[in-house]
Amino acid sequence: MRILVIGGKGTIGKRVSDHFMQEHEVIIAGRSSGDVTVDITDSNSIKAMFEQTGKLDAIVGIAGEAKWAPFSELSEEDYYIGLKSKLMGQVNLVRIGQHYLNDGGSVTLSTGILADDPVLQTASAAMVNGGIHSFVQAAALEMERGIRVNVVSLGVVEDAYEKYKGYFPGHNPVPTPKVVNAYVRSVMGKDNGMVIRKYE
Ligand SMILES: NC(=O)c1ccc[n+]([C@@H]2O[C@H](COP(=O)([O-])OP(=O)(O)OC[C@H]3O[C@@H](n4cnc5c(N)ncnc54)[C@H](OP(=O)(O)O)[C@@H]3O)[C@@H](O)[C@H]2O)c1
Repeated sequence: MRILVIGGKGTIGKRVSDHFMQEHEVIIAGRSSGDVTVDITDSNSIKAMFEQTGKLDAIVGIAGEAKWAPFSELSEEDYYIGLKSKLMGQVNLVRIGQHYLNDGGSVTLSTGILADDPVLQTASAAMVNGGIHSFVQAAALEMERGIRVNVVSLGVVEDAYEKYKGYFPGHNPVPTPKVVNAYVRSVMGKDNGMVIRKYE
């Protein structure tokens, strides 16, 4: 398979890319790293990325940001960070990317536990995660040529636990093999319109 991993040098993306590289051709995209550079907040940049990669069997998005801050401090502009990056950035990976997928290909997006089980300071981040879950379920109904779309929703991953544990008291980190397998399930399996949840 030819697999494009956007955010493939990131904390989660590196684990997923390293796994798929064992048996597949993996192209890594990132804002400042990888084989191809892209800014997912800009749909022209996304189009240019796909023009460079050519036809693919799987698109895996593991990139996207949202502002974390106390609800009383979040400005309207702060919300737009998440809407433009994690939400519309990933929607555009599907909207534009479908035309670069071979028949039977797939798109896998990334969200997180905040959609179902938010913690303090995540009104914006939780909102965009939930939006992507609804988007994936609806878009999957209209995919053509056997193309599938799913989203992986993870709890705090083992590799990032030290950084985030203060925000997630009492949460169990998600072990790396579970993280990788959530993406394997989406790319290699037959799921469509699924929110693949691994929260511990
Ligand atoms: N870490 C966790 O425990 C966890 C749990 C659940 C969900 N998530 C979600 O999973 C995603 C990845 O998390 P992570 O911890 O692996 O993040 P990370 O280590 O910060 O890596 C993010 C990757 O995304 C790329 N990226 C960021 N903004 C981009 C943009 N606008 N255009 C293109 N590429 C961009 C970065 O590229 P450059 O390095 O080249 O800038 C980097 O490769 C995030 O959306 C995060 O919210 C994370």
